[in-house]
Amino acid sequence: MKVAFYSIRDYDRAFFDEANKSAGHDLRYLHYQLNNETVGLIEDEAAVCVFVNDELDAEVLRTLQQRGVRLVALRCAGFNNVDLVATEKLGISVVRVPAYSPNAVAEHTLALVLALNRKIYRAYNRVREGNFSLDGLLGFDLNGRTVGIIGTGRIGRIVARILLAIGCKVIASDPLPCPECEEMGVRYVGLTELFQQSDIISLHCPLNCDTHHLINESNIAQMKQGVMIINTSRGTTLDARAVIVGLKSGKIGYLGLDVYEQEGDLFFQDLSNQVIQDDVFERLVSFPNVLITGHQGFFTKDALQNIAQTTLNNINDIERNGKCINEISSSLLREPCK
Ligand code: NAI
Repeated sequence: MKVAFYSIRDYDRAFFDEANKSAGHDLRYLHYQLNNETVGLIEDEAAVCVFVNDELDAEVLRTLQQRGVRLVALRCAGFNNVDLVATEKLGISVVRVPAYSPNAVAEHTLALVLALNRKIYRAYNRVREGNFSLDGLLGFDLNGRTVGIIGTGRIGRIVARILLAIGCKVIASDPLPCPECEEMGVRYVGLTELFQQSDIISLHCPLNCDTHHLINESNIAQMKQGVMIINTSRGTTLDARAVIVGLKSGKIGYLGLDVYEQEGDLFFQDLSNQVIQDDVFERLVSFPNVLITGHQGFFTKDALQNIAQTTLNNINDIERNGKCINEISSSLLREPCK
């Protein structure tokens, strides 16, 4: 099948070229993010392959369909950037990679927790400058601390397992509690109790109407003084402006982000020679107790191999059988946001 790839980077390309040696599809790589302005770059492809920050709203999808596109192949798990009601109306199939490496994201979550707690990013810079002072680097033992996990799906349950092994007490909130977690020793609680009891809160839920700005002013008010918040899920689960207020007051003692609400304008590109226009983001990076990575939780060799292989298998399945186990539909959506 002819496939146009949007938002492609050299590292993606290497893995897709390798996986395509056996799949034999006709792949065309575009560096641009898919949106209303770039949708016209489609030629005669029957499929587009897209990533987390490509914008597939009803208008973009209509143009794709008019140009002959019948398949959207997401090379990621999340699908909040695709209007699934529109794809159904237009007869466009949508496939995704549901789990390329939950370990990669879970391990990155741990990296953020450890680096923030022991201020590794500050220590690294200090030692390079010959500054061996320990002032400001004081951490705390993770052993015995309470961690609240919001969403114990594929990623959240691995985070729970790792933290339990370190000696943390793990509580969790999920509308679908997982028996495996309960057997490990995770206790399910309501969100209020989770906010009140947790020393560390880590988000591993999808972005939906219930989780949009879940970390907001009133929920932050319920949290412990000096709480650590980690978000590797989707940027919009956290209200960045409310978090800035919490950081300024000291209510939030640590913030680790791998995702950001407006990341589509920033992440996955080198902007080091430009003036960043997003003042909220710039305020966040100015705090000494905030550590931000640019959506790299998934970024391991193992995950990229899985992404490439599964994406091409998904395309094969649709091409040959007209159906695929990784196909998604609007039935996965909850009530539309009011
Ligand atoms: P999953 O679908 O396996 O698990 C999500 C869990 O969240 C489910 O157990 C679900 O019941 C639960 N959930 C749904 N609504 C909830 C709510 N209101 N409160 C609490 N829990 C709720 O998803 P997976 O694979 O574990 O991914 C989790 C998140 O990580 C997603 O947002 C995904 O987009 C993000 N992600 C981030 C990556 C990164 O590179 N930073 C890479 C891959 C995924």
